[in-house]
Amino acid sequence: MTNSIKQSSGIKNIYLETFGCQMNELDSELVQDQLSALGYAFEGDRASADVVLFNTCSVREQAENKVLSRIGELGIEKREGREVVIGMLGCLPEREGKKLLGTYPQLDFICGPSELDHLPTMLHNAVLGERLSASERSALQGNRSRRSTALSAADDNLELLDLARAFNPDHRRSSDKSAYVRITRGCNKFCTYCVVPNTRGAEVHRPPDAIIEECRQLVQTGAVEITLLGQTVNHYRYTHDIAVNDEGIEVPQIGPGLTAFSKPLDESQRITTFANLLKRIHDEVPGVQRLRFVTSYPKDFGNDILEVIRDCPRICNYLHVPAQSGSNRILKLMNRGYTVEEYLEFIERARTIIPDVEIAGDIIVGFPTETEEDYKATCDLIRKVRFKNNFVFHYSPRPGTVAIDRFEDNVPREDKRRWLNAILALGSEISGDVHKAYEGCKVGVFVERLSPKMTKNSGVELMWDSGKIQLSGRTQGDLICVFDVDSEEMANNLMGTIVDVVVTDSAPLLLQGNLVRDYVER
Ligand code: SAH
Ligand code: SF4
Ligand code: F3S
Repeated sequence: MTNSIKQSSGIKNIYLETFGCQMNELDSELVQDQLSALGYAFEGDRASADVVLFNTCSVREQAENKVLSRIGELGIEKREGREVVIGMLGCLPEREGKKLLGTYPQLDFICGPSELDHLPTMLHNAVLGERLSASERSALQGNRSRRSTALSAADDNLELLDLARAFNPDHRRSSDKSAYVRITRGCNKFCTYCVVPNTRGAEVHRPPDAIIEECRQLVQTGAVEITLLGQTVNHYRYTHDIAVNDEGIEVPQIGPGLTAFSKPLDESQRITTFANLLKRIHDEVPGVQRLRFVTSYPKDFGNDILEVIRDCPRICNYLHVPAQSGSNRILKLMNRGYTVEEYLEFIERARTIIPDVEIAGDIIVGFPTETEEDYKATCDLIRKVRFKNNFVFHYSPRPGTVAIDRFEDNVPREDKRRWLNAILALGSEISGDVHKAYEGCKVGVFVERLSPKMTKNSGVELMWDSGKIQLSGRTQGDLICVFDVDSEEMANNLMGTIVDVVVTDSAPLLLQGNLVRDYVER
């Protein structure tokens, strides 16, 4: 839409940029749906937008710096006369608080991740140019949810936001074959380095029926793959409301003052565990071809979960379960709540119950007081676990965390850099072996996109110059797999489907193979 049409029709054009994890990606999707329904338009051009929204991440300093430099640039444009509303959403304003509005006067409003239901009003006021106080331009949770952990997700306005997307097919782009569904908000673990418990609040579990209904709706509007989201997703546990009926018998409470029949309660009416939830989604929503979940916490994996994954063919044999460190001393300082031995015991259990499971993780290098010995212990752990990949981060001291108050960030930069590079090299060697083991095997690939064209610089090692169209997708175990197709039409037909591919070659981050020609569209 051109600027003049936009102005005459009064439609405000929003540019929304998202940083951070899948939770933020999902929040941005919800925000876009919510604001589109109110008549705002979304376009990809920051330079011409009437409103610029940043959905921010605070997990490392680098993530914050990126967005703050954007805010700085926009501040200059605003001072030079550009009329633009700037709003900051997500974890950064929640961490920093309303003083952010003083530091960056170009910001019109800020909104934490747990307050997104207030966004339309705040945006509306900003667009109208209302002169409001800093408090009126801030929607932040503070530590409210920590004080009222009894708050049930079902009573929460955010619950409506999650559900609205699923129930509004108009807003689902048909190309989205892969969807996120939140099952838990917040985190109660308080790892000493981490801002998330402060920015996302107390752990709250969503009611299983709402989750299942959302999955059902998403499938009806075209989703093939669903990824369940939670900071410690496998810690999911929903305690159902129980009432006592007139005869003194315990019965399920199905609404305020409403109770169900007086049959004796079975265990599933009292508590839905993560294993129960996975099984229910798998069985009750057969249209979900692939069910995934991130991120798992090593301590909370009972065999019940692993057995459900083994027994349900459409639940992916993939676990993202960060170890963070291979040194017991560092794990203790991180308050991770497990030892290396316990982590390895879990990995062994997982591999015994689900033999072809692929495991990914995260590692932090350079945690305060970390020594060469601790770093070597992390390398040992990586060798033993044989991760398909690890995301490796430099430790970043975060305001408001225990670690920044208690420990000096005393690991020399040079050591951090050397360890990080060595861990990446080791990880790549192991990933190479993990991928090589698939050569000659047939794998199911969920087709996601055309292969990126750039080979060397994009980190994709095996885009071969065959002059053909190449598709890229993922196996159940989350390995990237590319293969050639004959025509654009074929590429379009295959996009978003699951096809069989015979793997012919591999590299540390990639499988390549040949499409099994008599593929069946499922
Ligand atoms: N809830 C997830 C991860 C959330 S944050 C979990 O517990 O596994 C994603 C990753 O960022 C973490 O796994 C950790 O490796 C990294 N991270 C978090 N805080 C960090 C910090 N202060 N410095 C460096 N990396 C950090
Ligand atoms: Fe952060 Fe630890 Fe919670 Fe993960 S489990 S979000 S690392 S506090
Ligand atoms: Fe970042 Fe917040 Fe996610 S800090 S990693 S966007 S929970």
